[in-house]
Amino acid sequence: MITLADIHRLFRSDEVETAALRSIDLTIEAGEFVAIMGPSGCGKSTLLNIIGLIDRPTSGRYLFQGEEITGLDEAHLARLRRDNLGFVFQSFNLIDELTIAENVELGLVYRRWAGKQRKARVQAAMDRVGIAHRARHYPHQLSGGQQQRAAIARAIVGEPSLILADEPTGNLDTANGEQVMDILKSLNAEGATIVMVTHSPAHADIARRVVNMLDGRIVVSARRAA
Ligand SMILES: Nc1ncnc2c1ncn2[C@@H]1O[C@H](COP(=O)(O)OP(=O)(O)O)[C@@H](O)[C@H]1O
Ligand SMILES: [Mg+2]
Repeated sequence: MITLADIHRLFRSDEVETAALRSIDLTIEAGEFVAIMGPSGCGKSTLLNIIGLIDRPTSGRYLFQGEEITGLDEAHLARLRRDNLGFVFQSFNLIDELTIAENVELGLVYRRWAGKQRKARVQAAMDRVGIAHRARHYPHQLSGGQQQRAAIARAIVGEPSLILADEPTGNLDTANGEQVMDILKSLNAEGATIVMVTHSPAHADIARRVVNMLDGRIVVSARRAA
């Protein structure tokens, strides 16, 4: 599904140049559940953003579903994101002024689906993560765990083949973190490919493969026995 070859990402400012990623080679097959681990600042989010077509590498090759994305324009990348990707963040990133149902519907914002079909999709996504009874509430009225489940509903409402999660349990207590992991695990069992950044060894253990990073490089990439 994804092939990264010799990917570098440099951030330049007037005084400093940071090599956030250095010579990353990584292949991810459809259906995998991959955990990315490593100390703060080692490039995990940068890697996830490049995989998610939010950021572009400074050099290297990136094949997404067999298609070389390096030369594609922003409109083309936006279409690929819309049709294939769902994002989950540590800080939920829900919009405070919108209800939970409206937030979830944002996951369909560029889809040209009719109103009835949209409503059905939004309902199904909220049911899927156990948040439907909070549809008319606003984010601040929900617990952190409920907010993250709503964010997952927004991520999956368009039925993406690839879910990218950047420390999805980082702001949650143990019980809520486990609920989120259970949802990700079952989405993977149903066929979604998942790439998740985590600091939790227990949560990384749920993935079938762990990629360890240090200073912008992949130092270990290990698959767990089935
Ligand atoms: N937009 C940016 N501009 C400048 N430097 C950045 C930017 N994004 C990330 N970096 C730097 O790149 C390195 C990797 O960052 P990041 O990918 O966020 O690490 P992690 O997610 O592992 O904590 C860090 O040194 C960070 O300061
Ligand atoms: Mg990060």
